[in-house]
Amino acid sequence: MFRKISGTKDILPQEADVLQQIEVTSRNIFSLYGYRQIRTPILEDAALFDRSLGKSAEIVQKQMFLIKNKEEVYALRPEGTAGIVRAYIENNLDKSLGFAKLYYLGPMFRFERPQKGRLRQFHHIGAEAIGSTAAELDAEVISLANSLLQGFGISGYKIKINSLGCAKDRKGLSDSLQRWLKGKAGDLCPDCQQRLEKNALRVLDCKNESCRAVVDKLDITGGHLCPECAAHFLRVKECLDISGISYEVSPRLVRGLDYYTRTVFEITHPDLGAQDAIGAGGRYDDLVKELGGPVAPAIGFAFGVERLLLATSDQRPATSDHLVYLITLGQEAKKEGLKILQELRGSGVACDTDYEEKSLKGAMRRANDLGATSVLIIGDDELKKNVITLKDMANSQQREISRQDIVKELRSSC
Ligand code: HAM
Repeated sequence: MFRKISGTKDILPQEADVLQQIEVTSRNIFSLYGYRQIRTPILEDAALFDRSLGKSAEIVQKQMFLIKNKEEVYALRPEGTAGIVRAYIENNLDKSLGFAKLYYLGPMFRFERPQKGRLRQFHHIGAEAIGSTAAELDAEVISLANSLLQGFGISGYKIKINSLGCAKDRKGLSDSLQRWLKGKAGDLCPDCQQRLEKNALRVLDCKNESCRAVVDKLDITGGHLCPECAAHFLRVKECLDISGISYEVSPRLVRGLDYYTRTVFEITHPDLGAQDAIGAGGRYDDLVKELGGPVAPAIGFAFGVERLLLATSDQRPATSDHLVYLITLGQEAKKEGLKILQELRGSGVACDTDYEEKSLKGAMRRANDLGATSVLIIGDDELKKNVITLKDMANSQQREISRQDIVKELRSSC
Protein backbone atom coordinates (compact mmCIF):
# COMPACT_ATOMS: atom_id res chain seq x y z
CA MET A 1 0.00 0.00 0.00
CA PHE A 2 1.28 3.45 -0.85
CA ARG A 3 1.33 6.07 1.87
CA LYS A 4 1.35 9.83 1.59
CA ILE A 5 4.72 11.56 1.78
CA SER A 6 5.67 12.60 5.30
CA GLY A 7 4.56 16.17 5.96
CA THR A 8 1.75 16.09 3.40
CA LYS A 9 -1.89 15.74 4.26
CA ASP A 10 -5.08 14.35 2.74
CA ILE A 11 -7.86 16.85 3.19
CA LEU A 12 -10.90 14.65 3.63
CA PRO A 13 -14.45 15.85 2.87
CA GLN A 14 -15.32 17.00 6.40
CA GLU A 15 -12.20 19.18 6.62
CA ALA A 16 -12.60 20.28 3.00
CA ASP A 17 -16.07 21.60 3.92
CA VAL A 18 -14.52 23.76 6.65
CA LEU A 19 -11.76 24.85 4.27
CA GLN A 20 -14.28 25.89 1.66
CA GLN A 21 -16.07 27.96 4.28
CA ILE A 22 -12.73 29.63 5.10
CA GLU A 23 -12.16 30.32 1.41
CA VAL A 24 -15.64 31.75 0.86
CA THR A 25 -15.28 34.00 3.91
CA SER A 26 -11.81 35.09 2.73
CA ARG A 27 -13.02 36.06 -0.74
CA ASN A 28 -15.87 38.12 0.76
CA ILE A 29 -13.65 39.94 3.22
CA PHE A 30 -10.85 40.54 0.67
CA SER A 31 -13.37 42.14 -1.64
CA LEU A 32 -14.71 44.32 1.21
CA TYR A 33 -11.16 45.69 1.50
CA GLY A 34 -10.75 46.15 -2.27
CA TYR A 35 -8.40 43.18 -2.97
CA ARG A 36 -8.52 41.19 -6.22
CA GLN A 37 -7.22 37.69 -6.72
CA ILE A 38 -3.91 36.82 -8.35
CA ARG A 39 -2.85 33.25 -9.24
CA THR A 40 0.83 32.68 -9.90
CA PRO A 41 2.54 29.39 -10.80
CA ILE A 42 3.54 26.88 -8.14
CA LEU A 43 6.83 26.41 -9.98
CA GLU A 44 9.21 29.36 -10.10
CA ASP A 45 12.86 29.88 -10.93
CA ALA A 46 14.71 28.88 -7.74
CA ALA A 47 16.93 31.97 -8.01
CA LEU A 48 13.85 34.16 -7.43
CA PHE A 49 13.72 32.94 -3.84
CA ASP A 50 17.50 33.24 -3.28
CA ARG A 51 17.25 36.88 -4.35
CA SER A 52 14.10 37.82 -2.46
CA LEU A 53 14.11 35.77 0.76
CA GLY A 54 17.90 36.03 1.09
CA LYS A 55 20.58 33.40 0.56
CA SER A 56 21.03 32.93 4.30
CA ALA A 57 17.29 32.50 4.99
CA GLU A 58 16.50 29.13 6.55
CA ILE A 59 13.94 28.46 3.80
CA VAL A 60 16.50 28.99 1.06
CA GLN A 61 19.30 27.17 2.86
CA LYS A 62 17.44 24.07 3.96
CA GLN A 63 13.81 23.96 2.95
CA MET A 64 13.44 24.37 -0.79
CA PHE A 65 11.99 21.59 -2.92
CA LEU A 66 14.14 21.89 -6.03
CA ILE A 67 13.63 20.38 -9.46
CA LYS A 68 16.74 20.28 -11.61
CA ASN A 69 16.10 20.26 -15.34
CA LYS A 70 19.24 20.44 -17.50
CA GLU A 71 20.62 23.92 -16.70
CA GLU A 72 17.51 25.26 -15.01
CA VAL A 73 16.66 24.87 -11.34
CA TYR A 74 13.00 25.30 -10.47
CA ALA A 75 11.55 25.50 -6.99
CA LEU A 76 8.14 24.54 -5.65
CA ARG A 77 7.25 27.91 -4.18
CA PRO A 78 7.89 28.07 -0.42
CA GLU A 79 5.82 31.26 -0.10
CA GLY A 80 3.74 33.59 -2.27
CA THR A 81 5.23 37.09 -2.00
CA ALA A 82 8.26 36.59 -4.26
CA GLY A 83 6.18 35.11 -7.10
CA ILE A 84 3.63 37.90 -6.83
CA VAL A 85 6.31 40.57 -6.97
CA ARG A 86 7.80 38.77 -9.99
CA ALA A 87 4.36 38.77 -11.67
CA TYR A 88 3.79 42.43 -10.74
CA ILE A 89 7.02 43.42 -12.48
CA GLU A 90 6.75 41.03 -15.44
CA ASN A 91 3.15 42.07 -16.25
CA ASN A 92 3.74 45.81 -15.65
CA LEU A 93 0.99 45.89 -13.05
CA ASP A 94 2.35 49.21 -11.81
CA LYS A 95 1.12 50.68 -15.09
CA SER A 96 -2.17 48.78 -15.52
CA LEU A 97 -3.28 48.71 -11.88
CA GLY A 98 -1.19 51.45 -10.29
CA PHE A 99 -1.45 50.79 -6.59
CA ALA A 100 -2.27 47.07 -6.49
CA LYS A 101 -4.21 45.19 -3.82
CA LEU A 102 -3.88 41.46 -4.48
CA TYR A 103 -4.89 38.31 -2.62
CA TYR A 104 -4.05 34.65 -3.11
CA LEU A 105 -4.87 31.19 -1.87
CA GLY A 106 -2.83 28.11 -2.63
CA PRO A 107 -0.30 25.44 -1.71
CA MET A 108 3.26 26.20 -0.57
CA PHE A 109 6.12 23.75 -0.02
CA ARG A 110 8.90 23.67 2.56
CA PHE A 111 11.14 20.73 3.36
CA GLU A 112 10.75 20.98 7.14
CA ARG A 113 10.75 18.39 9.92
CA PRO A 114 7.02 17.66 10.18
CA GLN A 115 5.25 18.23 13.48
CA LYS A 116 1.88 19.58 14.67
CA GLY A 117 1.12 22.61 12.49
CA ARG A 118 4.31 22.17 10.45
CA LEU A 119 3.90 20.49 7.09
CA ARG A 120 5.90 20.10 3.91
CA GLN A 121 2.91 20.99 1.78
CA PHE A 122 0.64 23.55 3.39
CA HIS A 123 -1.62 26.37 2.20
CA HIS A 124 -1.45 30.13 2.41
CA ILE A 125 -4.24 32.66 2.32
CA GLY A 126 -2.47 35.95 1.86
CA ALA A 127 -2.60 39.50 0.60
CA GLU A 128 -0.10 41.95 -0.86
CA ALA A 129 -0.66 45.71 -1.25
CA ILE A 130 1.99 47.09 -3.60
CA GLY A 131 2.74 50.76 -4.27
CA SER A 132 2.40 52.82 -1.08
CA THR A 133 4.43 53.72 2.01
CA ALA A 134 1.39 55.06 3.90
CA ALA A 135 1.32 54.01 7.54
CA GLU A 136 -2.48 53.94 7.19
CA LEU A 137 -2.01 51.05 4.76
CA ASP A 138 -0.02 49.07 7.33
CA ALA A 139 -2.91 49.52 9.75
CA GLU A 140 -5.43 48.56 7.08
CA VAL A 141 -3.51 45.37 6.25
CA ILE A 142 -3.39 44.40 9.92
CA SER A 143 -7.08 45.25 10.19
CA LEU A 144 -7.75 43.00 7.17
CA ALA A 145 -5.93 40.10 8.87
CA ASN A 146 -7.95 40.78 12.02
CA SER A 147 -11.26 40.86 10.09
CA LEU A 148 -10.41 37.58 8.39
CA LEU A 149 -9.77 35.88 11.72
CA GLN A 150 -13.04 37.24 13.08
CA GLY A 151 -14.79 36.03 9.90
CA PHE A 152 -13.32 32.52 10.43
CA GLY A 153 -14.73 32.56 13.97
CA ILE A 154 -11.26 32.42 15.54
CA SER A 155 -10.70 34.22 18.84
CA GLY A 156 -8.01 34.34 21.52
CA TYR A 157 -5.20 35.30 19.11
CA LYS A 158 -2.54 37.94 19.73
CA ILE A 159 -1.27 40.44 17.16
CA LYS A 160 2.39 41.31 17.78
CA ILE A 161 3.98 44.17 15.87
CA ASN A 162 7.44 45.70 15.56
CA SER A 163 9.40 47.92 13.22
CA LEU A 164 12.73 46.83 11.77
CA GLY A 165 13.19 50.24 10.18
CA CYS A 166 14.66 50.91 6.75
CA ALA A 167 17.55 48.87 5.31
CA LYS A 168 20.05 51.13 7.12
CA ASP A 169 18.26 50.79 10.48
CA ARG A 170 18.11 47.03 10.06
CA LYS A 171 21.82 46.87 9.38
CA GLY A 172 22.45 49.04 12.46
CA LEU A 173 20.37 46.69 14.64
CA SER A 174 22.08 43.65 13.16
CA ASP A 175 25.56 45.11 13.82
CA SER A 176 24.61 46.02 17.40
CA LEU A 177 23.31 42.50 17.98
CA GLN A 178 26.54 41.07 16.63
CA ARG A 179 28.50 43.20 19.11
CA TRP A 180 26.23 42.39 22.06
CA LEU A 181 26.15 38.68 21.36
CA LYS A 182 29.82 38.10 20.44
CA GLY A 183 30.83 37.34 24.00
CA LYS A 184 27.83 35.05 24.50
CA ALA A 185 28.30 32.91 21.37
CA GLY A 186 29.07 29.88 23.55
CA ASP A 187 25.54 29.99 25.02
CA LEU A 188 23.91 30.00 21.58
CA CYS A 189 22.86 26.93 19.57
CA PRO A 190 25.18 25.92 16.66
CA ASP A 191 22.70 27.40 14.13
CA CYS A 192 22.69 30.74 15.93
CA GLN A 193 26.49 30.77 16.15
CA GLN A 194 26.42 30.73 12.35
CA ARG A 195 23.54 33.23 12.22
CA LEU A 196 25.62 35.59 14.33
CA GLU A 197 28.13 35.78 11.48
CA LYS A 198 25.70 35.91 8.54
CA ASN A 199 22.58 37.66 9.82
CA ALA A 200 22.51 38.35 13.55
CA LEU A 201 18.83 39.46 13.46
CA ARG A 202 17.82 35.83 13.05
CA VAL A 203 19.14 34.99 16.51
CA LEU A 204 16.14 36.95 17.85
CA ASP A 205 13.85 34.50 16.07
CA CYS A 206 15.38 31.28 17.42
CA LYS A 207 13.04 29.06 19.46
CA ASN A 208 15.91 27.24 21.22
CA GLU A 209 15.66 27.75 25.00
CA SER A 210 19.31 28.66 25.59
CA CYS A 211 19.18 31.24 22.78
CA ARG A 212 15.92 32.64 24.15
CA ALA A 213 17.54 33.05 27.57
CA VAL A 214 20.40 35.08 26.04
CA VAL A 215 18.08 37.16 23.85
CA ASP A 216 15.62 37.89 26.68
CA LYS A 217 18.40 39.70 28.56
CA LEU A 218 19.06 42.11 25.68
CA ASP A 219 17.71 45.61 26.06
CA ILE A 220 16.09 46.21 22.67
CA THR A 221 13.72 49.16 22.71
CA GLY A 222 13.44 50.37 19.12
CA GLY A 223 16.36 52.82 19.45
CA HIS A 224 17.70 51.60 16.07
CA LEU A 225 14.97 53.47 14.13
CA CYS A 226 15.83 56.64 12.18
CA PRO A 227 13.43 59.60 12.72
CA GLU A 228 11.37 58.81 9.56
CA CYS A 229 10.96 55.14 10.48
CA ALA A 230 10.19 55.99 14.11
CA ALA A 231 7.48 58.45 12.93
CA HIS A 232 6.08 55.84 10.53
CA PHE A 233 5.83 53.25 13.31
CA LEU A 234 4.20 55.77 15.65
CA ARG A 235 1.60 56.53 12.97
CA VAL A 236 0.93 52.80 12.39
CA LYS A 237 0.22 52.37 16.10
CA GLU A 238 -1.99 55.48 16.16
CA CYS A 239 -4.03 54.17 13.19
CA LEU A 240 -4.44 50.77 14.85
CA ASP A 241 -5.63 52.50 18.03
CA ILE A 242 -8.13 54.59 16.05
CA SER A 243 -9.36 51.44 14.30
CA GLY A 244 -9.82 49.73 17.67
CA ILE A 245 -7.43 46.86 16.91
CA SER A 246 -5.67 45.29 19.87
CA TYR A 247 -1.98 44.63 19.42
CA GLU A 248 1.21 44.23 21.40
CA VAL A 249 4.53 45.86 20.53
CA SER A 250 7.17 43.14 20.55
CA PRO A 251 10.66 44.68 20.15
CA ARG A 252 12.27 41.25 19.62
CA LEU A 253 9.96 40.36 16.72
CA VAL A 254 12.00 39.90 13.54
CA ARG A 255 11.07 37.72 10.58
CA GLY A 256 13.06 34.95 8.94
CA LEU A 257 13.03 36.52 5.46
CA ASP A 258 15.43 39.20 4.20
CA TYR A 259 12.90 41.32 2.34
CA TYR A 260 11.24 42.88 5.40
CA THR A 261 11.66 46.56 6.26
CA ARG A 262 9.76 48.76 8.74
CA THR A 263 6.53 47.19 10.08
CA VAL A 264 6.54 43.45 10.76
CA PHE A 265 3.79 41.52 12.51
CA GLU A 266 2.92 38.05 13.65
CA ILE A 267 -0.36 36.60 14.90
CA THR A 268 -0.12 33.80 17.44
CA HIS A 269 -2.74 31.48 18.90
CA PRO A 270 -2.43 29.62 22.22
CA ASP A 271 -4.00 26.36 20.89
CA LEU A 272 -1.21 25.71 18.42
CA GLY A 273 1.66 24.51 20.63
CA ALA A 274 5.26 25.17 19.55
CA GLN A 275 4.31 26.39 16.06
CA ASP A 276 2.04 29.09 17.38
CA ALA A 277 2.06 31.58 14.47
CA ILE A 278 -1.19 31.39 12.50
CA GLY A 279 -0.07 34.18 10.24
CA ALA A 280 2.61 36.77 9.69
CA GLY A 281 3.67 39.55 7.42
CA GLY A 282 5.22 42.94 7.06
CA ARG A 283 6.51 45.67 4.79
CA TYR A 284 8.95 45.01 1.99
CA ASP A 285 9.63 48.47 0.63
CA ASP A 286 12.72 47.59 -1.42
CA LEU A 287 11.87 44.18 -2.89
CA VAL A 288 10.12 45.27 -6.10
CA LYS A 289 13.06 47.52 -6.97
CA GLU A 290 15.62 44.87 -6.01
CA LEU A 291 13.99 42.37 -8.36
CA GLY A 292 14.27 44.80 -11.27
CA GLY A 293 10.94 46.63 -11.00
CA PRO A 294 9.97 50.23 -10.26
CA VAL A 295 10.13 51.81 -6.80
CA ALA A 296 7.04 50.25 -5.23
CA PRO A 297 6.94 49.97 -1.45
CA ALA A 298 4.65 47.19 -0.30
CA ILE A 299 3.19 45.29 2.62
CA GLY A 300 1.44 41.93 2.96
CA PHE A 301 0.83 38.87 5.09
CA ALA A 302 -0.11 35.23 4.87
CA PHE A 303 -2.06 32.85 7.09
CA GLY A 304 -1.14 29.18 7.31
CA VAL A 305 -4.49 27.56 6.50
CA GLU A 306 -3.77 24.28 8.34
CA ARG A 307 -2.95 26.33 11.44
CA LEU A 308 -6.20 28.25 11.03
CA LEU A 309 -7.95 24.88 11.10
CA LEU A 310 -6.18 23.98 14.36
CA ALA A 311 -7.38 27.26 15.85
CA THR A 312 -10.95 26.84 14.58
CA SER A 313 -12.82 25.09 17.36
CA ASP A 314 -15.99 24.57 15.31
CA GLN A 315 -15.01 21.90 12.81
CA ARG A 316 -18.53 20.76 11.96
CA PRO A 317 -19.05 20.23 8.28
CA ALA A 318 -20.63 23.19 6.59
CA THR A 319 -23.70 21.33 5.37
CA SER A 320 -25.75 23.29 2.88
CA ASP A 321 -28.78 24.95 4.43
CA HIS A 322 -31.21 22.93 2.33
CA LEU A 323 -30.68 19.39 1.21
CA VAL A 324 -33.38 17.20 -0.25
CA TYR A 325 -32.92 13.44 0.07
CA LEU A 326 -34.83 11.26 -2.36
CA ILE A 327 -35.87 7.73 -1.42
CA THR A 328 -37.27 5.51 -4.15
CA LEU A 329 -38.92 2.14 -3.55
CA GLY A 330 -38.83 -0.17 -6.58
CA GLN A 331 -37.45 0.02 -10.13
CA GLU A 332 -40.21 2.22 -11.61
CA ALA A 333 -39.86 4.71 -8.76
CA LYS A 334 -36.10 4.75 -9.33
CA LYS A 335 -36.62 5.83 -12.96
CA GLU A 336 -39.00 8.60 -11.91
CA GLY A 337 -36.44 9.53 -9.26
CA LEU A 338 -33.77 10.13 -11.91
CA LYS A 339 -36.04 12.68 -13.58
CA ILE A 340 -36.80 14.39 -10.28
CA LEU A 341 -33.10 14.66 -9.38
CA GLN A 342 -32.43 16.25 -12.79
CA GLU A 343 -35.29 18.72 -12.39
CA LEU A 344 -34.36 19.70 -8.84
CA ARG A 345 -30.65 20.14 -9.54
CA GLY A 346 -31.50 22.02 -12.74
CA SER A 347 -33.51 24.43 -10.60
CA GLY A 348 -30.69 24.91 -8.10
CA VAL A 349 -32.08 22.65 -5.36
CA ALA A 350 -29.37 20.51 -3.70
CA CYS A 351 -30.44 16.89 -3.59
CA ASP A 352 -29.07 13.41 -3.17
CA THR A 353 -30.33 9.85 -3.20
CA ASP A 354 -29.50 6.33 -2.06
CA TYR A 355 -27.10 4.27 -4.18
CA GLU A 356 -26.68 1.42 -1.71
CA GLU A 357 -30.08 -0.30 -2.00
CA LYS A 358 -30.90 0.64 1.58
CA SER A 359 -34.22 -0.19 3.22
CA LEU A 360 -36.61 2.71 3.84
CA LYS A 361 -35.42 2.84 7.44
CA GLY A 362 -31.74 2.74 6.42
CA ALA A 363 -32.26 5.45 3.79
CA MET A 364 -34.06 7.66 6.35
CA ARG A 365 -31.09 7.23 8.69
CA ARG A 366 -28.73 8.26 5.89
CA ALA A 367 -30.87 11.35 5.14
CA ASN A 368 -30.64 12.28 8.78
CA ASP A 369 -26.83 11.78 8.85
CA LEU A 370 -26.43 14.03 5.82
CA GLY A 371 -28.47 16.75 7.52
CA ALA A 372 -31.24 16.65 4.89
CA THR A 373 -33.96 19.24 5.46
CA SER A 374 -36.58 17.40 3.38
CA VAL A 375 -37.06 13.81 2.28
CA LEU A 376 -38.98 12.79 -0.83
CA ILE A 377 -40.42 9.29 -0.94
CA ILE A 378 -41.71 7.63 -4.12
CA GLY A 379 -43.12 4.12 -4.09
CA ASP A 380 -45.83 2.28 -6.05
CA ASP A 381 -48.62 4.16 -4.25
CA GLU A 382 -47.19 7.55 -5.12
CA LEU A 383 -46.61 6.54 -8.74
CA LYS A 384 -50.23 5.42 -9.04
CA LYS A 385 -51.57 8.67 -7.57
CA ASN A 386 -49.00 10.83 -9.41
CA VAL A 387 -47.83 12.37 -6.12
CA ILE A 388 -44.67 12.40 -4.03
CA THR A 389 -44.52 12.13 -0.25
CA LEU A 390 -42.61 15.06 1.22
CA LYS A 391 -41.33 14.80 4.77
CA ASP A 392 -40.15 17.89 6.59
CA MET A 393 -37.21 16.70 8.70
CA ALA A 394 -37.49 19.59 11.16
CA ASN A 395 -40.96 18.61 12.44
CA SER A 396 -41.35 15.08 10.93
CA GLN A 397 -44.61 16.20 9.23
CA GLN A 398 -45.43 14.28 6.08
CA ARG A 399 -47.75 15.28 3.19
CA GLU A 400 -48.38 14.40 -0.42
CA ILE A 401 -47.46 16.87 -3.16
CA SER A 402 -48.63 16.63 -6.72
CA ARG A 403 -45.80 15.41 -9.00
CA GLN A 404 -45.81 18.53 -11.18
CA ASP A 405 -45.62 20.88 -8.17
CA ILE A 406 -42.59 19.31 -6.50
CA VAL A 407 -39.88 21.58 -7.93
CA LYS A 408 -41.94 24.72 -7.21
CA GLU A 409 -42.64 23.51 -3.67
CA LEU A 410 -38.99 22.73 -2.86
CA ARG A 411 -37.65 25.87 -4.52
CA SER A 412 -39.92 28.00 -2.38
CA SER A 413 -38.65 26.35 0.81
CA CYS A 414 -34.94 26.88 -0.16
P1 HAM B 1 5.80 33.00 6.82
O1 HAM B 1 5.82 33.50 8.24
O2 HAM B 1 6.96 32.23 6.39
O3 HAM B 1 5.57 34.27 5.92
O4 HAM B 1 4.49 32.13 6.62
C1 HAM B 1 3.21 32.62 6.94
C2 HAM B 1 2.43 31.61 7.76
O5 HAM B 1 2.42 30.36 7.06
C3 HAM B 1 3.05 31.26 9.10
O6 HAM B 1 2.69 32.22 10.08
C4 HAM B 1 2.41 29.91 9.38
O7 HAM B 1 1.09 30.09 9.88
C5 HAM B 1 2.30 29.30 8.00
N1 HAM B 1 3.38 28.32 7.78
C6 HAM B 1 4.67 28.58 7.49
N2 HAM B 1 5.37 27.42 7.34
C7 HAM B 1 4.48 26.42 7.52
C8 HAM B 1 4.58 24.99 7.50
N3 HAM B 1 5.72 24.35 7.23
N4 HAM B 1 3.46 24.26 7.75
C9 HAM B 1 2.28 24.87 8.00
N5 HAM B 1 2.13 26.22 8.03
C10 HAM B 1 3.21 26.98 7.81
C11 HAM B 1 5.51 34.23 4.56
O8 HAM B 1 5.49 33.21 3.89
C12 HAM B 1 5.40 35.58 3.91
N6 HAM B 1 5.33 35.39 2.46
C13 HAM B 1 4.21 36.35 4.44
C14 HAM B 1 4.11 37.70 3.81
C15 HAM B 1 3.32 38.07 2.80
N7 HAM B 1 4.88 38.73 4.11
C16 HAM B 1 4.56 39.75 3.31
N8 HAM B 1 3.63 39.35 2.51
